[in-house]
Amino acid sequence: GTVHPFFGAHQAGITTPVQDHLQFAAFDMAAGTGRDDLVTLLQDWSYAASRMTRGLDVSATGAVGGSPEAPPDDTGEALGLPASSLTITFGFGPTLFERDGEDPFGLAAHRPPALERLPAFLGDDLDPASGDGDLCVQACADDPQVAFHAIRNLTRIAFGRARLRWSQLGFGRTSRTVADQATPRNLFGFKDGTANILADDESALREHVWVPSGDGPSWLAGGSYLVVRRIAMLIETWDRVRLAEQNRIVGRDKGEGAPLSGGDEFSAPEFATGGIDAASHVSLAHPDHNGGTRILRRGYNYVDGNNDLGRLDAGLFFLSYQRSPDRFVALQRSLSTDLMNEYLRHTGSALFAIPPGASEGSFVGAGLF
Ligand code: HEM
Repeated sequence: GTVHPFFGAHQAGITTPVQDHLQFAAFDMAAGTGRDDLVTLLQDWSYAASRMTRGLDVSATGAVGGSPEAPPDDTGEALGLPASSLTITFGFGPTLFERDGEDPFGLAAHRPPALERLPAFLGDDLDPASGDGDLCVQACADDPQVAFHAIRNLTRIAFGRARLRWSQLGFGRTSRTVADQATPRNLFGFKDGTANILADDESALREHVWVPSGDGPSWLAGGSYLVVRRIAMLIETWDRVRLAEQNRIVGRDKGEGAPLSGGDEFSAPEFATGGIDAASHVSLAHPDHNGGTRILRRGYNYVDGNNDLGRLDAGLFFLSYQRSPDRFVALQRSLSTDLMNEYLRHTGSALFAIPPGASEGSFVGAGLF
């Protein structure tokens, strides 16, 4: 299995070739915890993450090397499994910096002004229990058990300091971050990730993804902002829509993913020729209609069982990385007239500041303290 280094200028899990599986988790710091608890938690998490991403147990004694009289350090379900391209990406939510006027971690002065709860959007149907959080962990891997193992063990390490607030499993990628990855499909059956920002596009990453120094506090330079939206897709309704109408809603054709203005999947959409509906998703989301804004999308398909009407609770766990949250906000507002909205409900929302990567021996977020 591929090993992606945990340490580096940027955290892994952003431009890393998108893995097939996701386990995402948001945590809240436990009541009564302070700055030292947060620092040691981040140190312990980084250490464990640096090991798990190499395909190792969370500690040297691990699952079976410790005392038989003590519970093992590592839970063991990844024993014998390779690293499986595991990446573990950490982020900080607005409430870590201030909650109810309190500042238990002494971070208020370091809060990036842009790190605020996302505003309400038209069509939101948010469940507060599956949104927000003080901390987030995005674990992506090509083996779901490896991604699960990472979140389970980080949750265990956090015991007494932070507790799991909500979590989400994603079973198939809906984007691509390198040119030689085939474009996957979302649950509407359309190719998703065609026009994404790719890992080798240094200038687009600089322009649209990484927080430049001088833009907010210095600890975040080289980091990013992660927007999380759990978007339920009303797939049974969608499945009764005529194919031509499905294509019109997206602005691309279902088979090839080519823009309806013509060409192949990677042809640029032409909006002047009339082939693409102005209220289609691709038209409203395109940089030409959003002051040049681009985002790096890294979402996953999800299904969480079904409701008692026999409808699947399925959708897109939308993850996007961008250099400032207001760019996402403006883009999401442009989508308020999207033809696709009839088939979508946003049920979860969160925003996290993603610090830059840690250098070997240090920990993610060290620049904050
Ligand atoms: C493009 C689906 C939500 C932003 C696309 C494409 C599809 C798609 C099929 C065309 C292929 C591609 O370039 O990837 C969906 C579905 C969504 C969803 C099913 C919800 C379940 C969002 C949201 C945003 C967004 C919430 C941002 C606020 C974009 C952007 C593009 C895009 C920026 C590329 C446009 C371009 O440059 O041509 N989406 N999308 N999408 N989507 Fe979405």
